[in-house]
Amino acid sequence: MKPLRTAAAMLCSLLLLTALSGCAQGGRRMIRIGHNQSADHPTNLALLAFEAHIEAALGDRYEVEVYPSELLGSQTDMVQLTQTGAIDFCVASNSILETFSERYTLFNLPYLFVSRDAYHQAMDDPEITRPIFSSTRQAGFEAVTWIDAGTRNFYTVSTPIQSPADLKGLKIRVQQSPTNVTMMRLLGGSATPMGFGEVYTALQSKVIDGAENNELALTSNGHGDVCKYYSYDMHQMIPDILIGNCDFLDSLSEEERAVFEEGFQLVNSVERQEWDKAVDAAKERAENQQGVTFLYPDVQPFQTICIPMHQDLLDDCPDLVPIYEGIQRWNRQYPQKGEQ
Ligand code: GCU
Repeated sequence: MKPLRTAAAMLCSLLLLTALSGCAQGGRRMIRIGHNQSADHPTNLALLAFEAHIEAALGDRYEVEVYPSELLGSQTDMVQLTQTGAIDFCVASNSILETFSERYTLFNLPYLFVSRDAYHQAMDDPEITRPIFSSTRQAGFEAVTWIDAGTRNFYTVSTPIQSPADLKGLKIRVQQSPTNVTMMRLLGGSATPMGFGEVYTALQSKVIDGAENNELALTSNGHGDVCKYYSYDMHQMIPDILIGNCDFLDSLSEEERAVFEEGFQLVNSVERQEWDKAVDAAKERAENQQGVTFLYPDVQPFQTICIPMHQDLLDDCPDLVPIYEGIQRWNRQYPQKGEQ
C-alpha cells in the first residue's frame, strides 16, 4: 500500500509539472485519464477502447494515457486533479460526487431503481442525466458519460447477512458520502467511510468486519480472500461517472468534440459489454477458489428501512423532484423480474 501511495504522490507531482509546462509530447497534446480499477477490469478495457478511438481519429494531435489502479491517487484526489486540469479525465463513483454537487445524491439513494433495466434506461435518458451531469461546471468539471458498476451488496468476513438485524454492531466500510453513512446507520451497522484502496488492508487487519460493493471487489480487489459471505440485499445501483475538465472540453473544435463524444459512448458500451462476463467470472472464482458463499436474503426488510431516504432528499432538494419522477416512469416501465 505504502509504496503505491508514494509512487502515486510522485506521479502526481510529475503530472503537475508537465501540466504546467504544456504537456506537449512530440507536438501532440497528452490526454491523461485516471481511475481506481485494475488493468483487467471492464472500466480499464473501455478506456483503452477510448484511447484507440481517439488516437485512430485524431492521433496527429492527441495521445491518450490511461492510468489504472489509483496510480494518480484516490478517486477524490483524481477528481481534484481533473478540476484543476492537472489531468483531463477520471472515473469517479457517483457516491463521492455528491460532495461536489448535491444533485448527484439522487443516484446514491438506496433502492432508487427497481430493476437493472430501469437503471440502464434512466441513466441513458438525457432528460434525467443532463441536469445532474452539468451541475459541476462551475467547479471546473462535468460528466461526459456513465459507467455501469452493477449492484452493491453487503459482504463480511464471517457474518452471514440475512436481515438488517445481522448488521447490528458490525463495522462496515462505506464510500465517503453522507448518503452511504446515513443508509448504514438506518440499517443498524456502524459506517466506516474510507477510500477504496484502503479496504483490503482494513478487512485483513479486522479494522472493519465487512464492506459493500459489486462482485468484482471480491476478485479484482481480493476482498473475497478475506470475506466469506456475500449477501444479495441489492441496496444500491450506483453508477461510475467519467468526468472531464471543462477547460479542456471547451478547447476542442466542433469536429474534435464529435470524435470525443463517440469515444464517450464507446466507453459506456464497451464497459457494458464486458460487465456481465466479468461478473460471471468473478462469482465463479469467488465461489470456487476463494470459498465465498453467496446468500439471497429477502430484500424487503432492507428496502423498507431505506425508502424514507427518498422523500427526505426530495424535501431537501425540490429541484430533484422532476428528475426523480422521470426515474419512477422508467421503474414502472421496467419492473423488477427477479434478478441476480
Ligand atoms: C466500485 C466502483 C468504484 C468505487 C468502489 C468503492 O468498485 O466501481 O468507482 O470506487 O466501488 O466502493 O469505492
